[in-house]
Amino acid sequence: MARVVVTHQIPQAALALLRAAHDVDSWEGQDAPSREVVLRRVSGADAVVTMVTDRVDQEFLGAAGSQLRAVCNVAVGYDNIDVAACRERGVVATNTPGVLTEATADTAFALVLMATRRLGEAERVVRSGKPWTWGMSVLLGMGLQGRTIGIVGPGQIGIATARRAKAFGMEVVYAGRSPMAAQAQAQLAAARVDLPELLATADVVSLHCPLIPAGAPDSTYHLIDAEALSAMRDTAYLINTARGPVVDEAALVEALRTGQIAGAGLDVFEEEPRVHPGLLELDNVVLLPHVGSATVQTREGMATLAARNALAVLAGEGALTLVG
Ligand code: GLV
Repeated sequence: MARVVVTHQIPQAALALLRAAHDVDSWEGQDAPSREVVLRRVSGADAVVTMVTDRVDQEFLGAAGSQLRAVCNVAVGYDNIDVAACRERGVVATNTPGVLTEATADTAFALVLMATRRLGEAERVVRSGKPWTWGMSVLLGMGLQGRTIGIVGPGQIGIATARRAKAFGMEVVYAGRSPMAAQAQAQLAAARVDLPELLATADVVSLHCPLIPAGAPDSTYHLIDAEALSAMRDTAYLINTARGPVVDEAALVEALRTGQIAGAGLDVFEEEPRVHPGLLELDNVVLLPHVGSATVQTREGMATLAARNALAVLAGEGALTLVG
């Protein structure tokens, strides 16, 4: 039996899979464990099931020890993992693509609707308890039909978001390192453009690229910076369900404050859980606490896939969804 450490609470179905084969140290606390607690618990683990909030760096790997064989992230993004350090130490790193595609695209499109129709702002009006009444020019937003969505990063979630946009009568353009899967591109009649053209033409810019750190080839750190924001139309909206640091948050605050863009919808932030105070003061931005994949079914699917990855590596088989 190997020792498997699960850093945070995960659904029972995934724990049961692990427990059937291994000695599992699961986290039962209601609150998230501190970094210190996680580092102590991973000591001696053969496999660790991690969350996006765990920083799997040299310190973490060192705390686990040289017997560690697998780090199985319960997330599709793996910018929290130092993949090169894992490789150096012979540790397999895995993620959970596919199972969260639809849930995350739902959240992205919910943000599109909330931002363009000012629904967060509208709800705050009702909750404020102040008098309100139907009005011809009250809380008018932008209709989506005939508008263009610009998908940055045409992977599975980007495509699933584009499908929703198409169903709402939007045109689709996209930019990315690789072309969109041919069948999806044809179904969506999606045009590949470069980022400057996408920024200049899209009514809604939706981010679906991975976070690649500054200095690395194809870095996406601050891909949307002051210059990119100034290239957008002043009637356009920015949606981010990818990773916070893809956007320069201070520049976004400025762009939203000065009307350089019309609005934004964010599920992710540069320094989670901190939110730039400037964003909190603005009405033209919708703020969600990183809930992109947060459905019961999806979280069970993600945790189960991570567990199956751990089981496969510990059994000496290849990981199902290897990263890097
Ligand atoms: C969540 O942010 C994920 O990458 O799955």
